[in-house]
This record gives sequence, C-alpha cells and structure tokens, in this order.
Amino acid sequence: MKDDWNDRAVPRLERPPAALTVRIDGVEIAAGPEDTLLTVARRAGIEIPTLCHDDRLKPTGACRMCLVESSDSRRMVPACRHPVQDGLTVRTDSERVRRHRRALLALYLADQPEGVAPGTELERLARHHGVEPGVPEVDAPRAKRTGDANRFIEFRADRCILCARCTRYCDEVEAVAAITLAHRGAETTIATNFGAGLLDTTCELCGGCVDTCPTGAMVERAAVSALDAQRPEEVVRTTCNYCGVGCQMDLHVDAETRTLVRVTSPAPGTTLNDGNLCVKGRFAYGFVNHPDRLTTPLMRGADGALHPTDWDTALDRAAALLGGVRDRHGADALGFVSSSRCTNEENYLVQKLARAGFGTNNVHQCAAT
Ligand code: SF4
Ligand code: SF4
Ligand code: FES
Repeated sequence: MKDDWNDRAVPRLERPPAALTVRIDGVEIAAGPEDTLLTVARRAGIEIPTLCHDDRLKPTGACRMCLVESSDSRRMVPACRHPVQDGLTVRTDSERVRRHRRALLALYLADQPEGVAPGTELERLARHHGVEPGVPEVDAPRAKRTGDANRFIEFRADRCILCARCTRYCDEVEAVAAITLAHRGAETTIATNFGAGLLDTTCELCGGCVDTCPTGAMVERAAVSALDAQRPEEVVRTTCNYCGVGCQMDLHVDAETRTLVRVTSPAPGTTLNDGNLCVKGRFAYGFVNHPDRLTTPLMRGADGALHPTDWDTALDRAAALLGGVRDRHGADALGFVSSSRCTNEENYLVQKLARAGFGTNNVHQCAAT
C-alpha cells in the first residue's frame, strides 16, 4: 500500500525467483539474498517509513525512522539496511515500533526551530503519525554556511536532520562530492571544502541535493519566499526541451500569478531520468516567464520590421518562399537545421519535411540525434 507520506516509495526492479522466506506482519514473502527487510516489505506492499533512505543510494541507517522488530535481534533493526535471512519473523507495526516512530518524529520536530517545512517528507510523516511539535526546542548550535553567493541553492542548517541524503547523492549519483558532513556532535552540518561557496566547488548545480532532501533544508533559493508563504501551486508534468534525452520534470506554477516558481524531478523510479535533472532543466527556466519570449509568429512586413501574425499566414509565407528557392535553384539549394531542443518526433518531422516535402537530404540537427 502506498501512503500519503511517502510519495518516493516506488517499487523498483523485480528480483529473480528467491530462495529465502521471511514473514512480515504475518505475511510470508519470498526474498533473495540481496534483499533488505525494506525492499522485501515494499515489494509485498507493506510500507515502512524512511527518511534517510533513497533507492538510488547505498543505505546508511542514519535516521532510525525505519526501525522494526526482527526475530534475529533483541533490539529493533533498521529495515533499510538489515539483510534478509531465511525464516525471519518481522513486525513493522507493533506498539513498540509505533511508539519509537512517534518519539523519533517528536525529536526531529523539536529540532526545527523555524517549524517543519510544509510539503516535505518529514512534515508528511509527522502528520501521518499524528505527531506535532511539543518537545522543547533543542538548542543545537549548527554551523551556518555564510558567504555562499550562488543564486540557486540555499542550505537552511536549522532544518537539517543530518540524514546525509544530499551528500551521498552528490557523491554516489552526481559523482562530484561537492558537499560533505562536517564538524562533530551537535555542530555537525553540511559543508563544502574550506567553506567555499557552491560555485567555487565541484558542484554542477544539478539540484539533486534539493530534490532528495526530506526536510526542506536544501531548497531552491528563488523559490524560498513562495515556499515559506505556502502559496497554492499547480504541478504540471512535462518533458524538458533542452536536449533529446527527454527527462520528465514537474513545473510548479503559482496558482494565482501563473508564473513558474520552481522545477522538480518526478520521484525516482517513475520516469527515465530516475529523479535526476541537470542544471539547465532544473534552474534555467527564466525564459518561460520572460517578457521577451516569442509567443506568436513574427513576419517581416514591407516596412522591414517584424510584425505579429497567425500561424497559417506565417506557414504559407514560409512555404511559398522555400518553394520559390527550390524552383529557381533546385532542391539542394535548401538546407534544414533543427534544434536540439526539439523532441525526437519533431526532429523526425523536420527530416520528413526536407526529404518528402522539398526533396533534399540537406537536413541536420545540432545535437545530431
Ligand atoms: S547541486 Fe548537485 S553537484 Fe551541487 S551540491 Fe547539490 S547534489 Fe552536489
Ligand atoms: S540537508 Fe537535507 S538531505 Fe542533507 S543531511 Fe540535511 S536533511 Fe538530509
Ligand atoms: S531509513 Fe532506515 S535508518 Fe533511515
């Protein structure tokens, strides 16, 4: 069962026939030697809450949110990294487990002096378990990153629960390790080498740290005020048009002003980009609301200036002029160049237009897809 608090819990690859059997909440489930209690439970539709887990990353067991009772241990064990053994009996919803989850969430909320960020995994988990801020605030002197002038990513240290999803993503998926856990004890925080601003590190501004963060501690800088104000937004799923890969992206549109507030990636495991975007898809969306953006065709008039027109008129004019060149100089006097920002289907149509429409093989696309 998929719960409202965990929209990233998507069943991943089906495993080959398994040799092991475990019993989770009374249900007997087949498992393989590579499985953890979490992967087996999710395949069987049994949800276990997680915070530091991301299917794309090696499990660390940092947050303790996924603790369950298992017959091979007197203590509760982290389901995200506990290996399956044949014959294990596991309880994911006992009173002991539920008590642990509520206590842990209460502590995490107590560690959010600005209040838990709405819409985050932590907030949804707390709401699902009926946990509200109540434990006295923890006075944890987190080191704040200062002087980072990058316009894209803001780190709000007070919201960080040190799950290390951002640093592991940066290392294991993006392979640049621009950020890391730094300091010790209550001062532990996310930092860069020598406290440099992100633009002076190996950071590629992929924004993956923002997307994977379960608490809103990593956040798109341009969207901070809209997120803080909790302005109503609509989410529009679309295809990035910067290159031919076809990454899926979610556009968050302010419901009142109809402006684009931020871009996120769909949950890992649901689209071909597996939760990832590059710097262009994630942050280079300024053209969408830009006043100079062309929204109608323009046609040059007798006065030499460009004037808005409709598509039928513009296409008729283009066809007539291209046909005139072909008639006067032959089809190979024409050449068609399409854009890497077109989809494969659009590029297919351009070559069709060149070959079938005008009879030339002079056709190219700048990404050569
Ligand atoms: S934006 Fe990408 S590369 Fe930069 S710190 Fe975040 S995860 Fe690492
Ligand atoms: S910034 Fe977010 S993802 Fe990174 S350690 Fe803190 S809570 Fe986890
Ligand atoms: S999800 Fe298992 S310890 Fe964090």
